[in-house]
Parts: sequence; structure tokens; C-alpha cells
Amino acid sequence: MDWTRVLVTYSSVNGSTAEIARSIALTLCRTGMDVDVVPVSEVQDVRQYHAVVVGSAVYGGKWRGEAAKFLEHFGMDLVDRDVWLFQSGPLGNSAQSIVRALPVRIAMLAESLRMKGAATFGGKLDRNQGGPVGRFLARAGFACDYRDFTEIRLWAEEIARTTAMQSAVLRSGRMRLVRAGSSR
Ligand SMILES: Cc1cc2nc3c(=O)[nH]c(=O)nc-3n(C[C@H](O)[C@H](O)[C@H](O)COP(=O)(O)O)c2cc1C
Repeated sequence: MDWTRVLVTYSSVNGSTAEIARSIALTLCRTGMDVDVVPVSEVQDVRQYHAVVVGSAVYGGKWRGEAAKFLEHFGMDLVDRDVWLFQSGPLGNSAQSIVRALPVRIAMLAESLRMKGAATFGGKLDRNQGGPVGRFLARAGFACDYRDFTEIRLWAEEIARTTAMQSAVLRSGRMRLVRAGSSR
């Protein structure tokens, strides 16, 4: 498995979570990683990746069903990989400082994985999006972009640092094996 290969996959209804995913991927790319950004519905296989970042928009307190299904479907392969989770949703002026737990179903799925970290990012609501609830929220003054791309970049840099550090450990592990073999 190539340690530089990272999958960033996401589920988004109106595109703002997809933009967060692309922003994470861009940061990882700038640190020299080989990144694929793919909607969860289009992922065929995760075995070629060292790390997998999975994100979902939150609607009605839940992750999108397809994102939860992704974790279930690829669970057997994900246990051998570093998994990072993010959710985007909170609206309002304190959105960026909200520390929100993962929904129960996702937290339970995450327990069986080698989860390295989870983050909650502020969401974005446009007027006329999200049906009656969206319009209600917009009328209440929540139609705004609450995403903080500096916070998102810093989180992605943490992923890059952790992955790079691990790769150094893995490489030194391999070197030790070679020396052991050659001394016989
Ligand atoms: C109908 C509706 C329900 C929502 N429910 C939640 C919620 O339960 N929790 C939350 O944090 N955000 C909630 N949001 C905010 C969305 O998660 C936010 O707009 C997010 O950025 C949407 O992501 P997307 O553009 O990728 O679809 C809701 C928004 C709408 C329109």
C-alpha cells in the first residue's frame, strides 16, 4: 500500500460539503500526497489507499444515508486503514466553535475502525435550498456560509502530518526487516 495515496470521499446535497472535501484534498495534495476526491456513491474500492477521509453533510441530526452505508459496506477494508471523519452542518454565528459529537450510528461504526480523528465544520445554507425547513432557517437569518476554510486547512494539515509520520515509522520498520534478513 502506497502511504501517499489518500481517498477523500463525501456526501453532499447542495455542494458545500463537496467543497470542503475538495479543500481538504487540495491541502493534502500540496503536501505531496496522491489524492482522489470522489462522492461516496462512486467509490468502488478503498484498498489502494493508506488513509481514507469520509465526510457528510448533517441533515435532521443524521449523516446522509449513503455516507453511513459507505462506512458499513467498506468496513472490512477500512479497519486496515487510517480513517478520518468530518461532518458539516452547524449554522449560525457560533457554528465554528461548536464541538459536536458524531451521530450515534456513525459513532458506533467508527468504533470498529482505526479512526484517527473526527471534525465538525460549519455548514452553508443558501436561500431557497433545503425545502420548507431550509426556507424556515433562511427566514430566521441562517442563510449564510459558516465554513471556516482556515480551520479546514489546519485539520487537513494534521492528516498530512500524521500520515507522513506514520510513513516514516513504516519505512524504518521495513529497513529493520531488511537488516535482519541480510545478517543471516
Ligand atoms: C432541511 C435541513 C436540515 C438540516 N439539519 C441539520 C442538522 O440537523 N444539523 C446540522 O448541523 N445542520 C443541519 N442543516 C444544515 C446543513 O447541514 C448545512 O446546510 C450543510 O452545509 C449542507 O451541506 P451540503 O451543501 O453539502 O448539502 C440542515 C439544513 C437543512 C436545509
